[in-house]
Amino acid sequence: MKKSTSSKILIIALALIMAFVFTACSSSSGSKEASGSAEGTKVYKVIMEPTFPPFDTTDENGELAGFDVDMMNAIAADQGFEIEFAQMEFGALIPAIEAGNADIIASGMNAEDPERQKKVDFTDTYYDSGLVVMVKVDNDTITGIDSLTPDMKVASQTGTTGADACQELADNGKVAEAVILDGFDTCVLQLKTDSVQAVIIDAPVAASYMKQQSGEFKTVGDVLNAESYGMAVQKGNDELREKLNAGLKNIVENGTFAELCEKWEMANKFEFAVLA
Ligand code: ARG
Repeated sequence: MKKSTSSKILIIALALIMAFVFTACSSSSGSKEASGSAEGTKVYKVIMEPTFPPFDTTDENGELAGFDVDMMNAIAADQGFEIEFAQMEFGALIPAIEAGNADIIASGMNAEDPERQKKVDFTDTYYDSGLVVMVKVDNDTITGIDSLTPDMKVASQTGTTGADACQELADNGKVAEAVILDGFDTCVLQLKTDSVQAVIIDAPVAASYMKQQSGEFKTVGDVLNAESYGMAVQKGNDELREKLNAGLKNIVENGTFAELCEKWEMANKFEFAVLA
């Protein structure tokens, strides 16, 4: 073989390898195959917004943590797939799933919302919740949603059911302004500094902030609505939705789910349930 021919073959071979490596790297947006020991294992990308303790938060090292993280890890172990986590603004979660940039939302998301159901498919629900009004502990004027007045500001997080409730109050002239912010941590800070008079927030999350900052806040009045949290996947991805449902059912039955509820000090939706 002449030298020029063999170097041509070498160049073509190199080009083919590069093209292969390039396509392998660029297809990493949504799910992918795991490399290394667990060859062929699916890796799903799970997304959440982490200012929502005890469901979605960060630990002392800034890593994502919370009930949703532990539940997802337990379901993945049960179903034999791998996951990687990413965080984003709450309002960006559904668009990311629609665009195929992530596979699963686990973020304390109300699954019983018809607008969301048009865009993503939800799993079976894993937590029953509702919104509450949170105020400063020394506030004696606000005793519930009906005592909010047109000189007040109420805050909640972008894209949430709480934000919808705040907006409705503002649209109906019941309050001066709906202050819609990126994180619930910021809403709580605004309350602490008297920039807003109330925050509309999920009851278990209010409880968690009240525990974190003891003696600062209280919740007042009745629970405003009923919601149930589910995981969400891309519309039509029944394969993944069924794996999540099967995993959820198994971890409820084998006691892992109950352990996680205890660890994060939350109510267990399945405590008295007998699963079919
Ligand atoms: N449950 C509310 C909703 O579905 C709020 C969820 C906020 N979750 C979060 N991780 N920030 O809209």
